[in-house]
Amino acid sequence: MSQHAEQPTDGRRFGKVGVLLGGSSSEREVSLRSGAAVLRALQESGVDAHAFDPAQRSLGDLESAGFARVFLILHGRQGEDGAMQGVLETLRIPYTGSGVQASAIAMDKVTTKRLWVPEGIPTPAWRRVERGAALPEDIDTLGTALIVKPVSEGSTFGVTKIDAPDAGTPAARRAALRRGLDEALDIALRYDGAALIEERILGRELTCAVLGEGAQARALPLVEIRAPGANYDYHNKYFGNDTQYLCPAPLDAALSAHIQDVCVQAYRAVGARGWGRIDVMLREGPAGPSPCLLELNTAPGMTDHSLVPMAARAHGMDFTQLVLHILEAARLDGQEPPA
Ligand SMILES: Nc1ncnc2c1ncn2[C@@H]1O[C@H](COP(=O)(O)OP(=O)(O)O)[C@@H](O)[C@H]1O
Ligand SMILES: [Mg+2]
Repeated sequence: MSQHAEQPTDGRRFGKVGVLLGGSSSEREVSLRSGAAVLRALQESGVDAHAFDPAQRSLGDLESAGFARVFLILHGRQGEDGAMQGVLETLRIPYTGSGVQASAIAMDKVTTKRLWVPEGIPTPAWRRVERGAALPEDIDTLGTALIVKPVSEGSTFGVTKIDAPDAGTPAARRAALRRGLDEALDIALRYDGAALIEERILGRELTCAVLGEGAQARALPLVEIRAPGANYDYHNKYFGNDTQYLCPAPLDAALSAHIQDVCVQAYRAVGARGWGRIDVMLREGPAGPSPCLLELNTAPGMTDHSLVPMAARAHGMDFTQLVLHILEAARLDGQEPPA
């Protein structure tokens, strides 16, 4: 990877590049910030790069603009979920990151988990609840510390933590937990037609960036996230100054290598390509800590302060090298990956 990034690059060889940013998802603001950083890095490298905000332009302009390739840095729906990838496939404009199918799978946290489980990739136990459906009968089997989130959302929108009260009869505690779940589902279902209730893993939080695809996919150094009150919410992700990021994560070398291996396997299981980032909780067990994977982001944040650039830096790849590396691998479904 670093070898690749250290090659001298003549930005002009990429031709005219569109940086797709903004969009109309709830993560628009984050995408505008990521996109501005990517655009600046490309332009400073001599790439003929132009911003393109699909919320402000007709998609037909993608074709008339004459883009030779596109850097896709839209987050959330209509950008990260396969829809825009499908448009670019139809227009035959190569784009960065995962293809139509992997993007659509990764946008749906439940579908992602369903692919991981048969591969033996650890992920918190969950139940999926459709809008209007009753709570599953066996919800108590998930434990008493739970988290509810929309199936297809990002940036911690619509996420609620719930705990059964410590005191009271078992029946009263169960009833309180169910009331909490009903309220949390109301919130999550404002964002999506389905939500997932997950067992909450009480442990350290990590994230693992992955570059490449298939057998060539490689993990970057892990980042540990220490948010105030273990609350890594929208504010703490993007605005607060109190969240600490440690990269490489201070973990035993063998454990780090194991977590990276599991994340690469999880990335491959979804068929992701180009780049991505997997969010991970560390479960404390009698045999020591072990990873439990939450989700795969196929177009993660790319501001100067984002986690993938942080991991790349720890690997000796600066922000510009990372952006060029991702752009280099742009392609269409079915095309050969670059050598
Ligand atoms: N099962 C879980 N156990 C503990 N914490 C969780 C769990 N699921 C999510 N979280 C917390 O909520 C945050 C957001 O959840 P995540 O699944 O990554 O969704 P998104 O980032 O798409 O909103 C995580 O970064 C983590 O802090
Ligand atoms: Mg996440």
